[in-house]
Amino acid sequence: MLNTFQQADHPILPKATADEAARQEFTKSFKGFIQSSLLPGLTPIYQTRVARRFEKEHGHAPQDRRDIRTGMVDDIYFQHYAAANRIAQELLWESVGVSIDRQLPELIARAKELSAATSAQLVMPEGFEPPRYVTALDIHCMPGGYCSEVCSDDVSVGALYDRGVYLYSMGYTGPNNDDMGRSVVNYIKRHMPDFRPRRILDMGCTVGHSTLPYKELFPDAEVWGIDVGGPCVRYAHARAAGFGLEVNFAQMNAEATTFPDEHFDLVVSHILLHETSGKAMPRIFAEAHRVLAPGGLMIHADLPPFDLMDPFTQFILDNETWYNNEPFWGAMRDMDQIALAEKAGFDRADVRFDTAPMAVMEFAAAAEGYSQEASEAVAERDFTAGEFAPGGGWEVLIARKPLARKIAA
Ligand SMILES: C[S@@+](CC[C@H](N)C(=O)[O-])C[C@H]1O[C@@H](n2cnc3c(N)ncnc32)[C@H](O)[C@@H]1O
Repeated sequence: MLNTFQQADHPILPKATADEAARQEFTKSFKGFIQSSLLPGLTPIYQTRVARRFEKEHGHAPQDRRDIRTGMVDDIYFQHYAAANRIAQELLWESVGVSIDRQLPELIARAKELSAATSAQLVMPEGFEPPRYVTALDIHCMPGGYCSEVCSDDVSVGALYDRGVYLYSMGYTGPNNDDMGRSVVNYIKRHMPDFRPRRILDMGCTVGHSTLPYKELFPDAEVWGIDVGGPCVRYAHARAAGFGLEVNFAQMNAEATTFPDEHFDLVVSHILLHETSGKAMPRIFAEAHRVLAPGGLMIHADLPPFDLMDPFTQFILDNETWYNNEPFWGAMRDMDQIALAEKAGFDRADVRFDTAPMAVMEFAAAAEGYSQEASEAVAERDFTAGEFAPGGGWEVLIARKPLARKIAA
């Protein structure tokens, strides 16, 4: 597979030996092969044999993604596709995990050094309890999830996420894995050029991939990334310091933060919501509303809700729920997020969905700072369902908090 971008090095990125790098590249290419060569075969398989067989057995054509799944799970082609996908996913984490285990003491020492050299805050409350929907399973098959700590000052799952997500996205989230943050920032720049947030909160920041572009665009703003994963925020704090950016991080639950009312002008999240739960999501919206100043913006970037896509695309995406340890993936996409935002206190008229074009596509089109080969590879890429950003854009839910509460007549 053609490499798009190589991951940009930074002081706390785990270093791979030649053998480790070869294995990691293999998992990335394997994933690429599945997506470019096996995934496209699902459509003709469905149309030519599965839909017909389903109709014969059930007396009606498949109506929705559940019917499509019922038909597809018995099909040998689909079974091979799904199994290969799962194997690639497990292999990619494993290829990084081995490398991290080998150098964990150095990574911890480097994180401490970098963190000590910045004046940005790192807040890690004693006895913090992450929610069960995060700790109960290894989300997207990532060993240890976001919260596991194997020793004091552990950063291993942060390092695992940093390198693993680069392979997971096959480089399409850019050299710093920051495409989501960068895409939302570009969207804000384009659509709200006068917006100057004084304080910015990134909920569910993991290792701060998406958080840092906000500091780059709004250098005078106080930027906070929060996450329930201790090793993730520890790593995030050191990583930001390694990039020379003063960004604050805290181990904190987005359902109930410790920030004062009306503290932020911009509250964002990037692929957080689908990793929470049906009870947590309304609380996160309510918390975003509480900490937003009047006139402030809440922006959640994720993949689109199911009602914006056809049943076959829904079926493809919902494979994440079934085969990638993402229990809330499908359920979240069925929720009425606009109604949830309204319930949290936003006015319906001030809530909408839009698409933030992927920043990597824009870079590629402009051939900014990337090789000709990489630029062409991305510019020609037509992202489809089953990949991470269908159509080449992130779906953003945008809600503005009213400047002043309307007084009931
Ligand atoms: C897919 S990752 C987000 C990736 C990150 N936003 C980025 O752009 O790179 C989801 C993150 O949300 C965190 N998370 C889940 N529930 C949370 C909550 N209630 N409060 C804060 N963080 C949460 C997880 O620990 C995990 O790090």
